[in-house]
Amino acid sequence: MNLTIERDRLLSEIEALALISEAEPPVVTRVVFTPSDLKARAWMKARCAEAGLTVREDAVGNTFARWTGSDLSVPVVGMGSHIDAIPNAGKYDGVVGVLGGLEAIRALQRGGFQPRHSIELLVFTAEEPTRFGIGCLGSRMLANTLSSDAGQKLTDKDGATLDEVRREAGFRGNLEQVKLPSGYYKAFVEMHIEQGPLLERQQISLGIVTRIAAPASLAVLIEGSGGHAGAVLMHDRIDALCAAAELILAIENAARNSGAIDTVATVGICDVFPGAINSIPLRVRLSVDVRDTDLARRDSAMRSIEAAARSIAEKRRVLIQSTLLNADAPADCAPAIIDTISQSCRKHELNFLPMVSRAYHDSLFMARIAPVAMLFIPCRNGYSHRPDEYASPEDIERGTLVLAETLAALSR
Ligand code: GLV
Ligand code: MN
Ligand code: MN
Repeated sequence: MNLTIERDRLLSEIEALALISEAEPPVVTRVVFTPSDLKARAWMKARCAEAGLTVREDAVGNTFARWTGSDLSVPVVGMGSHIDAIPNAGKYDGVVGVLGGLEAIRALQRGGFQPRHSIELLVFTAEEPTRFGIGCLGSRMLANTLSSDAGQKLTDKDGATLDEVRREAGFRGNLEQVKLPSGYYKAFVEMHIEQGPLLERQQISLGIVTRIAAPASLAVLIEGSGGHAGAVLMHDRIDALCAAAELILAIENAARNSGAIDTVATVGICDVFPGAINSIPLRVRLSVDVRDTDLARRDSAMRSIEAAARSIAEKRRVLIQSTLLNADAPADCAPAIIDTISQSCRKHELNFLPMVSRAYHDSLFMARIAPVAMLFIPCRNGYSHRPDEYASPEDIERGTLVLAETLAALSR
């Protein structure tokens, strides 16, 4: 089979999707179930329909675009990623796996390939945690890692529940029916930008993921005592932000002192109340993200953070309350699919690097119900989650070609 990737068309689709955004180009912001997300979904479904795919959506908005295979009795080959984007993001995160996946299907169609196993392109709902506080909402629910009961009660910053918001967006089905049975997918493959610098630094064309790191997150509330910034003397103060500052540094140390390069911890949100220059901070909310490829080490970092919080609370006489939002296990990619991807790389004389994914992806949850693998494309300077995120046309084309060949091998 002669496979060709229509690179210019794929790139122009990436550009077109980037323009469906809540922010001015080159910034992409597309938060789940906002008007721009809904517009992007409609645009994406139209592209899938043009390719002759049958589109269905589930009750949480996961979108499945199917190229029906010749044997309906065998499990489906899945692939895809997400098109939602955090505030101030770029145009490739998630999108490369979705539009590259669509182009891989079109390349197979042009090459005259007829799959035996149906091939399904998935566009997952809310891989990003921006709106509902936890990432991979759609894939968590598909894998039943998040129950429909717990899922529907999640709230956004305005107090609207996921259930209300998804209904408003037009997804009114029964959330209980989102979960998929184990065995529905024969395999699941996700192509994604690396979001780190290793491939580019080593001038390697493709990464093949062997393991996806285990993410956990905490919401921390710190309460002190407010008051007048001029009138309250220093020794009378219980400043919630000063306590938060100590805790933030303790969180950094918990990761730095783990003894492993794979332990990372970040405080990405720090909300100060009342937030006035002449007012002592009364209340601070922190969001804490901790990850590691090793579950025991990740959990040990979490315990150090909890211990630091207890000691800072006592020393500074503040209340510190932390709520665990998620603590997920890592996932291993399937050796057989890794092997299939490697064979395609060798055939095209592409050098590749087996690597871990420190970012999480929907594949982390798909791995609970199917054998998974991920393909990483280099990205400039390792930049991601910022507007100057960039992957070269050549690398996108190479990744898409390898993805198409992998899908062909898996769906024969
Ligand atoms: C995904 O966007 C992540 O934060 O790893
Ligand atoms: Mn992301
Ligand atoms: Mn992503």
